[in-house]
Amino acid sequence: MTEDLRTPNAQPETDLVHCGRDSARQFGFVNAPAYRGSTVVHRTLASLDAATRGDPQTADFIYGLLGTPNSRELERLLSTLDHGAGAVVVQTGLAAVHVSIAAHLTHGDHVLMVDTAYGPTRRLCDVVLQRMGVETSYYDPNIGSEIAALIRPNTKLVYMESPGSLTFEIQDVRAISAVARARGVLSVVDCTWAPALFCRPIELGADLVVRALTKYEGGSSDLLLGAVIARSAELTRVVKTYADDLGSLAHPEDCVLCLRGMRSLSVRLKHHEASALRVANWLEARPEVKRVFYPALASDEGHALWERDFTGATGLFSVELHPVAREKIACMLDGMRYLRMGYSWGGFESLIILAEEGKGRTASNWRASGPLIRLHIGLEHVDDLIADLADGLTRLGVP
Ligand SMILES: Cc1ncc(COP(=O)(O)O)c(C=O)c1O
Repeated sequence: MTEDLRTPNAQPETDLVHCGRDSARQFGFVNAPAYRGSTVVHRTLASLDAATRGDPQTADFIYGLLGTPNSRELERLLSTLDHGAGAVVVQTGLAAVHVSIAAHLTHGDHVLMVDTAYGPTRRLCDVVLQRMGVETSYYDPNIGSEIAALIRPNTKLVYMESPGSLTFEIQDVRAISAVARARGVLSVVDCTWAPALFCRPIELGADLVVRALTKYEGGSSDLLLGAVIARSAELTRVVKTYADDLGSLAHPEDCVLCLRGMRSLSVRLKHHEASALRVANWLEARPEVKRVFYPALASDEGHALWERDFTGATGLFSVELHPVAREKIACMLDGMRYLRMGYSWGGFESLIILAEEGKGRTASNWRASGPLIRLHIGLEHVDDLIADLADGLTRLGVP
């Protein structure tokens, strides 16, 4: 029995604080310890049999690889927040991408993949799936219901990432999922940019949601973890079985850290959003900046879809600068005080990178003339970040 302090209609902020916790089992302590371990002992054959045959989300534990109280607590919270039937946590966001796709495929199948997918997702398709005899074709992120024309008899899965990596195109998840469902094709959305407080793709019609918990859910840049949240119990079972077969493990210590991060997620997200909006608006008015890619801005091409399907925006966006020599960009980036160069995002700290976008795209046009800079707006005071960026842009030496 899990102690559950939530009311059935609790708001997500309340779920974040209470859902999945079971203090009664922890001698009253608010948080569970990390249940490190491989072996789980049973006293009777009947108990071991019941655990082995039972529902992997609720039956007694069998072996550390197959689940711990920590992974289940996290899965329960994630599926509640996303209004799913179940969730499966795995060791990284990329592992979640992998199991969400490969769990359903066999030799000869076809996948439709968005052209603006996270780079390693694209590599997974072009290298790993290709080697398994699965063909991938790429589509324009703005395709909407016209995806119907690309579905083949052997198409098994349509994969979306919304917003897209680096250029933040918002996809019409409702239209694409509806077409996929009508044709018996699975729909998957990588919705890492917007935690479930801001977007719930299952409610928009998707079958599976991928989340790199490494980012906002963890929130402190000190862990790697991923999750797949499923519309149905059967899809949860298929993904969980595949993850177990691969030996995928969400380490208990990482689950504990992620749960700790998630209890304060709603407060952090509001801060990221408010600061990012201020910085994005400020950048839009700067002479060095040609365009800002941030769906929360009215000028963004995806703004109407973002308003329809999202309730908030996070701290990650890009700007296209007017053409400028690479040495000048180095002057800007090398001298930043707070916005340091580093991959990943979603932690408390602000980050900046020069994005080499466009080279890998095959199904959509990328016509930027200037360099693309991706920013993650963290939890520092926004005035300090704007001052840092103002100094950096001045170092570009644009007259
Ligand atoms: C959109 C998206 N999905 C998945 C991942 C993979 O997450 P991880 O770094 O935990 O493997 C990332 C990482 O940057 C990402 O940006």
